[in-house]
Amino acid sequence: MLVSAKEMLEKAVAGHYAVGQFNINNLEWTKAILTAAEETKSPVILGVSEGAGKYMTGFKTVQDMVAAMVDEMGITVPVATHLDHGSYDGCKKCIEAGFTSIMFDGSKYPIEENVAKTKELIEICREKGMSLEAEVGAIGGEEDGVVGQGECADPNECKMIADLGVDMLAAGIGNIHGKYPENWAGLSFETLDAIQKLTGDMPLVLHGGTGIPDDMIKKAIDLGVAKINVNTECQLVFADATRKYIEAGKDLEGKGFDPRKLLKPGYEAIIDKVKEKMELFGSVGKA
Ligand code: 13P
Repeated sequence: MLVSAKEMLEKAVAGHYAVGQFNINNLEWTKAILTAAEETKSPVILGVSEGAGKYMTGFKTVQDMVAAMVDEMGITVPVATHLDHGSYDGCKKCIEAGFTSIMFDGSKYPIEENVAKTKELIEICREKGMSLEAEVGAIGGEEDGVVGQGECADPNECKMIADLGVDMLAAGIGNIHGKYPENWAGLSFETLDAIQKLTGDMPLVLHGGTGIPDDMIKKAIDLGVAKINVNTECQLVFADATRKYIEAGKDLEGKGFDPRKLLKPGYEAIIDKVKEKMELFGSVGKA
């Protein structure tokens, strides 16, 4: 069932669990994540970065593929198609393509311009029944080519953006995309607590889910995080399983070179990883 992320996240806040956003790159990725969600009866958000959208030949291809897969696979759990870190133009394209949710990453704009563009996009999303995620402060890591300590958002700025009527809010609390450096200081729970106190029931989004220790994930959910983004971790298990298949020479046995066989170990590794995350986030059985 293709839906916006609004209701699933409101339920997550009320039920003290988080819904996973898992980024997709191709058909196998999408099928794996949908399979994991259906088998665990979890709501799920499929994240699509602008780069991944381009790779898959455009947002329309992505949207139509997901809609067809949800139909043909008989998926009953709520599924959202969500633009990840969208530019203003990217948001407009996804709205046109029929996505059910977008993230407008206006963090590169001065705050007044971020507010104006966010407001305009909120209007459109309301009209179309879509959900909108906004970001306050930049979330570091590979996002801007610099790997370092993640930034912490200003709680008052978070409150201001939340009050515009966004459906979910991503705020930097020391998290970063990609692998965490050895000397990472961990999540700033003081910042998260301050943001939650000011924003109330607003579903908070934790980006950079890869590599955050399980106990920190649980604490973040206790403090109001209702959506957690995971991307790199699925890529790592996919690459690892594919490498093992090839290193074992299986592509050279019989028809082992058939892409349906060659990509299977990686596909299965994504299913296992996504299920593991859904269990950790507490979304299992919540669909
Ligand atoms: P990771 O790649 O670190 O899991 O981050 C994913 C993310 O936040 C996508 O927006």
